[in-house]
Amino acid sequence: DAKQVIFSGIQPTGVPHLGNYLGALQQWVRLQNSAGPSTKLLYSVVDLHAITVQQDPKQLRQWRREVLATLIAIGLNPDRSILFYQSSVQAHAELMWILSCTASMGYLSRMTQWKSKLSLKDDASPLDTGSKAKLKLGLFSYPVLQAADIMVHRATHVPVGEDQSQHLEFARECVTNFNHAYGPHLVEPTTITSPAKRVMSLQDARQKMSKSHPDPRSRIVLTDTPNEIKRKVMSALTDSTNAVSYDPENRPGVSNLLELLSHLDESGRTPSELGSVYSNLNLKEFKTILSDALSESLSTFRDQYHKIMAEDEGRYLDHVAIKGAKKARESAEETMVLVREAIGF
Ligand code: ADP
Ligand code: NA
Repeated sequence: DAKQVIFSGIQPTGVPHLGNYLGALQQWVRLQNSAGPSTKLLYSVVDLHAITVQQDPKQLRQWRREVLATLIAIGLNPDRSILFYQSSVQAHAELMWILSCTASMGYLSRMTQWKSKLSLKDDASPLDTGSKAKLKLGLFSYPVLQAADIMVHRATHVPVGEDQSQHLEFARECVTNFNHAYGPHLVEPTTITSPAKRVMSLQDARQKMSKSHPDPRSRIVLTDTPNEIKRKVMSALTDSTNAVSYDPENRPGVSNLLELLSHLDESGRTPSELGSVYSNLNLKEFKTILSDALSESLSTFRDQYHKIMAEDEGRYLDHVAIKGAKKARESAEETMVLVREAIGF
């Protein structure tokens, strides 16, 4: 067997939400716990990606720590998985430049995320010329950085949420272009998506749950207290029918809540099965059940997280980051030696 290398990343833009967890992070832990001894795992806090939108330095520094603490609190073991800040491994940026020189502008400009930024303001009206001029190059080219993140570690498997699948396709295109120009040195990654492909917003079940959404009630953050969870679930947008049924087409709000409960359900019941189980409840009673289930399933995480942040007075997270950066640099350097040689440096 060829050696398996698993890589993924998360932006330090606040404590991760339930969408991040169910769509990606949970899978990272599963992969770690089922990996054979020859599998290499790398999980990165991708701070270079975070600055495609301007950040406050103090806030960014704090968020980096919070996200690293989150990764450990969900069950990633820094002695098994390489946990590191992307900016501490310079080869990510170096390979990005190299890939930029064979990547296609046309392909990049067709990316949905870019197209939505280009054509729409938050209120969905088209951008004027002045606003277009304010769009930054890094926001356009960050899929190339994402491709470099993956390739620099010769990743074979990349566990991400479904919203990333177009970027992963672009990454494979980067491999093809580079290998065509310089020889077969880069490895084509396979995408792994989790069963929870897209977790939707609590305030609009047609939009994905996201860190960038202005309404904090739209997402459950992993550190939310039982009271905060209850408040958010109770105010989740449903419809005027005060009954429980699974009907994603006509009742997206309540169906989204049933999907959430299904992801937490230990006996693995589908949203539609749960819809029948709770069909005798009104929405308020059902929301209570969901918020209790959420509080319960996040309680171990919350305790772990606060323990790690408290221990951080002793600089535990710095220690993890330094150790991770050293291993990640070694991993990246193995690839960069081949790449520089192939190019003629
Ligand atoms: P965000 O999209 O909230 O800014 P990131 O871009 O840092 O978060 O994404 C980290 C991981 O979480 C990615 O693999 C992404 O696909 C996944 N993810 C983010 N939001 C969701 C969601 N609502 N449902 C499923 N997966 C998601
Ligand atoms: Na995302």
